[in-house]
Amino acid sequence: MVGVPEAGVIRYRVAVSCIQSLYQLDGKHVVTIEGLTPRSGQSPIQQAMVDHHGSQCGFCTPGFVVALEGVFESEARVDEGALRTGLAGNLCRCTGYVPILEAGLSVPFDGSRAERLSSLYASRPMYEELAARAGAPLLIETARRVFFRPRGWTTR
Ligand code: FES
Repeated sequence: MVGVPEAGVIRYRVAVSCIQSLYQLDGKHVVTIEGLTPRSGQSPIQQAMVDHHGSQCGFCTPGFVVALEGVFESEARVDEGALRTGLAGNLCRCTGYVPILEAGLSVPFDGSRAERLSSLYASRPMYEELAARAGAPLLIETARRVFFRPRGWTTR
């Protein structure tokens, strides 16, 4: 998930990691599967995946857990349609998807979950640091490529 400072908070969205270039992440907060785990125990989504047998070989599991977290983080209403849309693009060769959908549907949803990632991290200092960098120019030069982001340009 990638967090972007917006209107006083860091908004997190799921990102497809295999097509993210490092320069696209400048000034953003990256949260991996490890970063979604609370200090003790498991997140409600991780526990739901266990309870509903949403993981078999485990190859796809990190992607599905992050995608589920993204649905709960960004959607105003979580139902089967939102889960199916949010999970699109993740492939599982073992489960047949039904246990993963059932895991997502079993997680209680209330509006407070929209700020869950913000509550896991020290969001105010992080927000201020990221917001200060948001409009800064960026120049990355390598032997084969040059990337330049002019001042004021933001990418999502
Ligand atoms: Fe094996 Fe999904 S649990 S690919």
